[in-house]
Amino acid sequence: MNQNILIIGATSGIAEAVARRYAEQGARLFLVARNNIKLETVSTDLAARGAGEVKTFVMEANDSDLLPQMLDSAWKVFGTIDVALVAHGTLPDQLRTETDIPYAIAEFRTNAESVIACLVGLAGRFETQGKGVIAVIGSVAGDRGRTSNYLYGAAKAAIDTYASGLRARLFKSGVHVLTIKPGFVATSMTAGLNLPARLTATPESVAQDIHRAIAKRKDVLYTPWFWILIMLIIRSLPAAIFKRMKF
Ligand SMILES: NC(=O)c1ccc[n+]([C@@H]2O[C@H](COP(=O)([O-])OP(=O)(O)OC[C@H]3O[C@@H](n4cnc5c(N)ncnc54)[C@H](OP(=O)(O)O)[C@@H]3O)[C@@H](O)[C@H]2O)c1
Repeated sequence: MNQNILIIGATSGIAEAVARRYAEQGARLFLVARNNIKLETVSTDLAARGAGEVKTFVMEANDSDLLPQMLDSAWKVFGTIDVALVAHGTLPDQLRTETDIPYAIAEFRTNAESVIACLVGLAGRFETQGKGVIAVIGSVAGDRGRTSNYLYGAAKAAIDTYASGLRARLFKSGVHVLTIKPGFVATSMTAGLNLPARLTATPESVAQDIHRAIAKRKDVLYTPWFWILIMLIIRSLPAAIFKRMKF
């Protein structure tokens, strides 16, 4: 039977690649994003790739007043949702977050609070239907605060901890929670960065891992897989050494 998929942050490079995999299987998609024009482009592409049905909803992720309306609309259209993916996020300018307090708070809000708001809303509805998978994109950056991106890392750590507790809560009602921790991925988010080519994945390969992890009801996904080893080493470094490192 075709699945019903809800994607928040549907214009993200990673989310779009995931959506394509579901569209090719004939899934019905409910896509949420803040930019109507980009959303329509993605929606048209997914319909052409074989999606059973594509519905869209325009929402700025920090607009928590609109969130219940968006969720009501998704459940009204599809009846049940098999998979929800929360994907939106920004990569803050770390140096600016160190001096500009409103900017730092706004970035934390987009990357942590608005994501948690989505999870709160999704959790209640999934708990009621008693099945399905909630997947949320965190980051390896949440595993340990580094000099170069600790505001972003702190937001992703908040998501990681929240999703861990939510997983334990929803397990009893048959609902699964997947935390996705990508390493470097070549999307518009990282377009201006000088990333090491050998460590940088394509959105398509990350999407393949995400699609598989959802199907297998995995708890935590590091993608590509080798980031589990890299982060094991990074987390194991003693603070006395770690604080001297420039990355
Ligand atoms: N790329 C990486 O190396 C990497 C690594 C680890 C984790 N991640 C995470 O993966 C997720 C997807 O990122 P990506 O790499 O696919 O980057 P992306 O292509 O830049 O996508 C980011 C998405 O977030 C949306 N967004 C940002 N702020 C928003 C807001 N206030 N309201 C609504 N939507 C908002 C953007 O919307 P617009 O299209 O309108 O701008 C865009 O769709 C993010 O959570 C990111 O933190 C990425």
